[in-house]
Amino acid sequence: MSKIRLLVLCGGQSEEHEVSLSSAKSVLEALPKDRFEVTPVVITREGKWLPPSETPHALERGSAPSGGELVLSQASSAAGFDVVFPLLHGPMGEDGTVQGLLRLAGIPFVGSSVLASSVCMDKIMMKSVLATYNIPQVAYQAVTHHEFSSHPEKIIDRLEHLGYPVFVKPANLGSSVGISKAKNPEELRAALRFAFQFDRRVIVEASTKGKPRELEVAILGNDNPKASPVGELTFDSEFYDYETKYTAGRAEMHIPANVPAEISAQVQAMALESYKILDCAGLARIDFFYVPESGELYLNELNTIPGFTKTSMYPKLWEAGGLSYAELVSRLVELALEQRN
Ligand SMILES: Nc1ncnc2c1ncn2[C@@H]1O[C@H](COP(=O)(O)OP(=O)(O)O)[C@@H](O)[C@H]1O
Ligand SMILES: [Mg+2]
Repeated sequence: MSKIRLLVLCGGQSEEHEVSLSSAKSVLEALPKDRFEVTPVVITREGKWLPPSETPHALERGSAPSGGELVLSQASSAAGFDVVFPLLHGPMGEDGTVQGLLRLAGIPFVGSSVLASSVCMDKIMMKSVLATYNIPQVAYQAVTHHEFSSHPEKIIDRLEHLGYPVFVKPANLGSSVGISKAKNPEELRAALRFAFQFDRRVIVEASTKGKPRELEVAILGNDNPKASPVGELTFDSEFYDYETKYTAGRAEMHIPANVPAEISAQVQAMALESYKILDCAGLARIDFFYVPESGELYLNELNTIPGFTKTSMYPKLWEAGGLSYAELVSRLVELALEQRN
């Protein structure tokens, strides 16, 4: 049997460039060499696809020089491979853009299609779709920059019904960038102005009643997806902000989560249902808020390309579910090839 020629795309233009490089290094180390011939390609922060010859160096250095060539011509570097693993997080990687390029190039890839990738990346679209299926979520309201700059006070009034505090988030970002918690109208104005620096569409969410417990579950599969055991993240900061996410030792992972069995079962069922509603494929990590005192259990978000280092939540959840890191990566490649039909 000939080896599967796998192209791993990593780096990318989002805040999660470094995380992506670490994920890629883990994948390169883990894949069985007798079955896979793996080529990593680093996409620089400026969007240039480095030729494979420059990639090992860029992976070690952690970053890469500038560029800015036409991306379409660069997609041709994906030709000659059996399958692509776009190990890219956030905008210009997880949001359907790279997926569209690969689709046009006719190369199977790991993970969700263009539609599911872009809907899951957009907090407003994702929540609106899931709301029509009555998936429990916090109350929310979308605001555009145009609306806010035209009638700021009217918008502040319109958001009143959510109650304070509220969470204000750019629609299309990740890593908690641009997110603030606002405790009064004054802070809400500032939070909106801040979020609009990152996106022309912003979502304002009611807060859970008290600090929520943060539960996460890993989904794997195409048409018949399976859920991993449920995990929990704990930390001391007020919410899971950028600093807490990316400072080593600030957050702790607990697998399995120490919650009642019926809560884990509900999380898994809700995650599987949402995965199918949004037509995800391959993988997704789905995050929930749980408040034991009020009994609130809400879906917060779906990540179609979750962090994938050996110590990241997604692979750790599957390890607890009986799949080693290497088995997981091999399975994802198989699922990508399956989707061709
Ligand atoms: N409605 C909410 N109620 C309570 N906490 C929230 C709410 N929304 C966000 N948070 C806190 O902010 C963090 C980041 O929000 P999230 O929507 O997950 O953004 P990102 O996509 O950047 O990860 C969450 O993990 C949680 O700690
Ligand atoms: Mg999050």
